[in-house]
Amino acid sequence: MKLQFLVIILFSSALAAHAQDRKTDATLYRRMGGYDVIATITDAYLKGVRGDPSFGRFAGRGADSLRRARQFLKDQFCAMAGGPCVYVGRDMKTVHGGLGITPAEWATSMRHLAAALDAIPVKAKERAEFLAMVDALKGDFVE
Ligand code: HEM
Repeated sequence: MKLQFLVIILFSSALAAHAQDRKTDATLYRRMGGYDVIATITDAYLKGVRGDPSFGRFAGRGADSLRRARQFLKDQFCAMAGGPCVYVGRDMKTVHGGLGITPAEWATSMRHLAAALDAIPVKAKERAEFLAMVDALKGDFVE
């Protein structure tokens, strides 16, 4: 009787663990490792674009505006990947309208994002999904 009880306990905890695994597999956000990973990618991406001389014409904002945009970007990536964040900023077309972003500049930005993803231990599947998720927005940026 005691043994049967033990078997039932072990079986149900294995089932619960499996259900938990499936749950945490659900969103890209979770599969990538959550908020800290999104924040690291965002910071590495921004370090890349902000330090890129070919993006010089987009610079010229104060430290607080840069910090604000950085937080907006983290919230946006987090929300897009299915995380618990809420993006409360303006939509991408409104924010980037009039900047005259070219297809070549968009491609450079995607390269910086890919390099940011290369700097962290993310699996190939999630890396590709994240890049595709952002590249799908191209039409809102390029004029
Ligand atoms: C060629 C690529 C890009 C360029 C040149 C660019 C340029 C800019 C500039 C100049 C601003 C500041 C606008 C302002 O001061 O009002 C800005 C803000 C922002 N960008 Fe981009 N951006 C690019 C790509 C992206 C991407 C890929 C995302 C996200 C998918 C993004 C999300 C944002 C967000 C969330 C803000 C802040 C919005 C706000 O202040 O309300 N940008 N970007």
